[in-house]
Amino acid sequence: KTTIKELYIRKENYLNKKIKVNGWVRTVRASKNFGFIELNDGTYFANLQVVYDENLANFKEVSKLVTGSAIRVTGELVESPGAKQPFELKAESLEIEGHSAPDYPLQKKRHTFEFLRTIAHLRPRTNTFSAVFRVRSTAAYAIHKFFQERGFVYVHTPIITGSDAEGAGEMFRVTTLGFDKMPRDDRGNVDFTRDFFGKETNLTVSGQLEAEAYALAFGNVYTFGPTFRAENSNTPRHAAEFWMIEPEMAFADLQDDMDLAEDMLKYIISYVLKNAPLEMQFFNSFIDKGLLERLENVVNADFGHITYTEAIEILKNSGEQFEYPVEWGHDLQTEHERYITEKHFKKPVFVTDYPKEIKAFYMRMNDDGKTVAAMDLLAPGVGEIIGGSQREERLEHLGKRMDEQGLNKEEYWWYLDLRKYGGTRHAGFGLGFERLIMYLTGMTNIRDVICFPRTPKNAEF
Ligand code: 4AD
Ligand code: MG
Repeated sequence: KTTIKELYIRKENYLNKKIKVNGWVRTVRASKNFGFIELNDGTYFANLQVVYDENLANFKEVSKLVTGSAIRVTGELVESPGAKQPFELKAESLEIEGHSAPDYPLQKKRHTFEFLRTIAHLRPRTNTFSAVFRVRSTAAYAIHKFFQERGFVYVHTPIITGSDAEGAGEMFRVTTLGFDKMPRDDRGNVDFTRDFFGKETNLTVSGQLEAEAYALAFGNVYTFGPTFRAENSNTPRHAAEFWMIEPEMAFADLQDDMDLAEDMLKYIISYVLKNAPLEMQFFNSFIDKGLLERLENVVNADFGHITYTEAIEILKNSGEQFEYPVEWGHDLQTEHERYITEKHFKKPVFVTDYPKEIKAFYMRMNDDGKTVAAMDLLAPGVGEIIGGSQREERLEHLGKRMDEQGLNKEEYWWYLDLRKYGGTRHAGFGLGFERLIMYLTGMTNIRDVICFPRTPKNAEF
């Protein structure tokens, strides 16, 4: 048994030989005494043309095959007389493993991405989604390769956690208590001491705090896992469940952090361009015309660097009419991020040193007392794809910041311990994996780069 990709890549090994392939029928053209089947097995864009005739024992049944059916074909691969394909398979036997019903939703025409989202279980059988998810797989491999080659230890941080890593409260609660049966105290608050863990727990919003603990033992670590956010934002860039890569380095500062992020991103892009060239050409032709040129430029140029304060100046002087006002102290909105990276720099840009009020409690306070050692990487077309920082390693400063943000220090006792016992400078970041895939493919909706997207009012599959 071979794959259709293998046939296209190493055709000379298979021509005029007997081969076996499996796949799903894309189209059938049946004539009275013979017919053609376009077969796809998910390994390649191009289909394999299968030719059959009355010599097939089940000729009549094969002639009635419809799109979507699963078949196995044995036969000889021969040069094709038609100009459309380099070869075709002359079927000697054809087994029907699974018939498809005539109402198969993926007929041979262009379907909108909106429609395909409603059949998320079938959309990987289309060329676009086949390419998206192959690139997703290749990019995941590139990320592991990048970190492993540099000696970073892959740590598996918990999915169920007892603390809020971002301090933002946007969490999915984990409970075994039925809603109606939740015991409550006098003030009507749920009494979690009687729940499974004996305390309030939630799905992780970030593995960072746990990664910090491991960085302070191993030096360099990274996580790569699912992350959950109950932010009720219905945007093309937010999902309630997404995957995040979070490296963390001990004895490192913000500059080291940005250097790592830039090296990593360039590595991933180069790896994907080299190892998924056909998919990338497909995106360049059908999804985003300038994609390949843009990505190649990103690999060959330095990323931009500005402070948040400079970004505010650029936006104020831009002459643009923004929907959200630009003011020092306010978070940058998507439109602002896109202006900076798409119109001003036209390449990925690090924005650093944000006001402490709009950033998480764990970021290191700068000497000005107003800003923190944060960095966001903004990318054209996507906006923020990385958020990171140098961490506050000074126990008193951290305690003060937690008080300011109204966090309960007792819940973070172990996190504070890390500052007590051999605390050191350290820094890390989080790369949103889906945002990266959007950036790599030119796809513009996060729902189209994750297999079964979880967004507000949407957990159908
Ligand atoms: O900027 P964020 O919230 O940073 C953190 O979680 C830090 N703990 C990371 C760290 O320093 N270790 O999230 C990091 C990245 C964002 O830049 C974005 O790419 C992605 O995660 N992200 C989302 N992606 C999809 N849907 C969402 N709702 C996302 N929220 C964040
Ligand atoms: Mg962020």
